[in-house]
Parts: sequence; structure tokens; C-alpha cells
Amino acid sequence: MQNPISKHDVTVIGLGAMGGELARALIAAGKKVIVWNRSSDKTRALAEIGAAVAASPAEAIAASPITLMCLWDYASADEILAQVGVKEALAGKVIAQLTTGSAEEAARQAEWLEARGSAFLAGGIMCYPRAVGAPETIILYSGDPAIFEEHSGVLGIVAPAQRHVGSRPGDAATVYTAVWGFYFAAMGGFFDGLALIAGCGLPRESVKEMVAPMAGKFVEGALDVFARLDAGNFAGDQATVAGHIEGLEATCAQIRETGVEPRMLDAFVSQLRVANAVGRGEEDIAAVADSLMAASQRFIPAMPVAPTR
Ligand SMILES: NC(=O)c1ccc[n+]([C@@H]2O[C@H](COP(=O)([O-])OP(=O)(O)OC[C@H]3O[C@@H](n4cnc5c(N)ncnc54)[C@H](OP(=O)(O)O)[C@@H]3O)[C@@H](O)[C@H]2O)c1
Repeated sequence: MQNPISKHDVTVIGLGAMGGELARALIAAGKKVIVWNRSSDKTRALAEIGAAVAASPAEAIAASPITLMCLWDYASADEILAQVGVKEALAGKVIAQLTTGSAEEAARQAEWLEARGSAFLAGGIMCYPRAVGAPETIILYSGDPAIFEEHSGVLGIVAPAQRHVGSRPGDAATVYTAVWGFYFAAMGGFFDGLALIAGCGLPRESVKEMVAPMAGKFVEGALDVFARLDAGNFAGDQATVAGHIEGLEATCAQIRETGVEPRMLDAFVSQLRVANAVGRGEEDIAAVADSLMAASQRFIPAMPVAPTR
């Protein structure tokens, strides 16, 4: 084990399922890594492959220029930042906060850290631990773009396809929520589909072979929505909102007859009804996105603004 007080390249605080993988990937890439975790048992396996183990969060943060924090939630991160010596260790350091939280939590923590001479990047991890370090893996970052640029080498080890999505501290949290939201909604529809297949006594392979083609259809459909939003063209030339409602209500009823609950399709039909209710039944389903986006505009002025550096 290396001496914890020697200079290290990167610190990882929080060695759960995700943080442990982040540390492992950094060590595998040849970085000098120092780690800290509330429960010390999680540091053992990392020490065996070359990590230094700090005795406290303050020692861990002081030991390298950048600290990746990956805790259960922002409240856990706050508890760690409140520990003895941490405030003093923070000056001149970068905290890359990879813990999932809201835009407001990120903005608040950025302000707190910046008041103590530390720079803050918020990261939204777009993968499961198994994909940490894979070429296509993305972590979404927000905060000062110059800080992101300066540390992109070490950050890019864990997520080679990383990207910076905004300079406000909370921007990564917002994009993270938006895109995991559609992933999980799609996963929910897929689970409903598997339940239907099982309920009807069909082999699940019949769905398995359709996963890739339907994922491709989703990409095509989503890109068509962007094109229509950009052009302001919602002509119902392919299929209308009202047509979708009629067809999908019938589909939901048929699924219910098999004893399966079409939870995600029900939710989608209620989204379609939002556009129908404002007179857009004869338009393309991109009008649903347009209606929902118009309804959300009023929240934008309330978004937290990055403190000026
Ligand atoms: N796992 C994923 O697939 C995934 C994907 C995207 C994003 N994320 C995000 O990554 C973060 C970590 O997730 P995870 O899956 O690694 O969770 P996890 O396995 O449950 O690990 C949680 C970590 O937080 C620490 N912790 C919890 N409460 C604490 C407290 N009060 N004080 C100090 N440390 C505390 C735990 O320490 P102990 O070991 O002492 O309990 C552990 O290191 C979460 O914000 C999650 O949303 C995870």
C-alpha cells in the first residue's frame, strides 16, 4: 500500500457498487488513487490492487487535486464534507460530485464548496457499474467548462464518452433525470411486454429478437420528433394523436383481458390525452412533446443559476 500522505492523482470517496468500480478503473489505468469509505471493509480489495487508503475524508481530499465523490445521496455527501478538517483540505481542490441529486442540491453544494476555495463539477452517471470505463460510457458533467477541460483526462478514464452539458451546476442533474427517465419508461414498457408474452404462453425469445429493431425504431421516432419541433411541423401525415389514442385504448383493453396490467401504455395514453385536450388530436404525436414542453416553460425562471466564479 502507498503512503496515504504522498501525492496522488485522484481521490475516490464512496466505494459502493459504483464508486468501487470508478476506483478500480482508475487504478487499472495506472493512476495513483487514494480512497476513503465510511465502512472500511470496502477499501480492502482496492488496497490489494494498489489504492492508498486515507484515514479520513480530509486526508483523502488533501492528497490529490481532484476528488470523485460517489455516495448514496447528497445528504451523505454533506455529512462527509462536514467532517473534521475537510473545510481546510478543500482550498484549491476540485470536487467531482457523481452522487445522484437534484439541480437544486448541486447548485447549493457548488456554492458551499466555492465559498471554501474549491471548484465543483456535478456528474450524472449514465451507466451501471459493469460499464464503467467502456468506450461508449457517458458521464454528463456540468459546472465551469474550464475545470472540466482541465480534468477531462482523468475523468475520461471512467467514462470515455463523457460530455459537458452546461455551466450551471445543476444542468447535469436535469439532463440525467430527463434521459434516465425515458430509459426507465422504455424498460417498464418492455417488462409489461414480457408479462403479456408470459401470460399468453409464448416464448420470451419472440420479444428478445425484437429488442434491437424496436430500439432502432425508437431512435428513428425520437429524431423525427426533434425534426418536427425544429421545423414547427406537426402535420398528422403519418399517424395522428387521436388515432394513437383510439388504437392504444383498444390495445390496453385487450391486454387487460389477458389479466396483465398495461401500466406503461396507460401512462402513454394519458400523455396523448394532454395534447388531445388542447385541440391537437389531428396532429402528429410530436405535438404531445410540444404541448408538454409548452406547459413546462413556466418553470424555467425558477431554475438555480450558477454562482459567478
Ligand atoms: N449503481 C448504479 O447503477 C448507479 C448508476 C448511476 C448512478 N448511480 C449513483 O451513484 C451513487 C452511488 O450508488 P451506488 O450504487 O454505488 O450505491 P451503494 O452501493 O449503495 O453505495 C453507497 C455509498 O454511499 C455511502 N454512504 C451512504 N450513506 C452514507 C453516509 N451517511 N455517510 C457516508 N457514506 C455514506 C456508502 O458507504 P458504506 O459502504 O459505509 O455504506 C457507500 O459507499 C448514487 O447516487 C447512485 O444514484 C448509481
